Amino acid sequence: MKSISMLTLAASVAFAAMAGQAVAAGDPAAGEKVFNKCKACHQVGETAKNAVAPELNGINGRKSASVEGYNYSEPFKALGITWDEAQFKEFIKNPKAKVPGTKMIFPGLASEADQENVWAYLSQFGADGKKK
Ligand code: HEC
Repeated sequence: MKSISMLTLAASVAFAAMAGQAVAAGDPAAGEKVFNKCKACHQVGETAKNAVAPELNGINGRKSASVEGYNYSEPFKALGITWDEAQFKEFIKNPKAKVPGTKMIFPGLASEADQENVWAYLSQFGADGKKK
């Protein structure tokens, strides 16, 4: 399991090294592809529900650990931030470094382009799951 995630991570780093320069920062279409890595746990859009992880509608400007009915870990409940691009990038680069003890088991997105693109993709969705 761990080696598979590390392989995926290595592959995405290699891809970013090849394509990173050509990709404009914050491209939602590229971010939709990056979001494939999140879909095992997270949903977004009009039909999104909490699953393994909280739904991500309206995440841009949303308070951390604020989705009703989702059972966040204690360290996440104590985080107390509002998600914006800077907070998100720091988190998604290495979730366990920003929130020690989180139950988000994901190695992180090493590529800054991936971080910005997936943020641009997610930022399109309002709290109701409709694209803004
Ligand atoms: C293996 C499952 C899993 C994967 C894959 C995953 N996450 Fe998560 N994520 C979680 C869990 C579980 C939480 C809640 C963490 C807690 O309570 O400690 C979470 C929390 C979050 C939060 C905070 C939500 C809030 O309401 O404060 C964001 C943002 C987030 N994840 C984004 C992402 C993105 C973007 C990706 C893909 C690049 C991703 N996650 C991949 C499981 C996952």
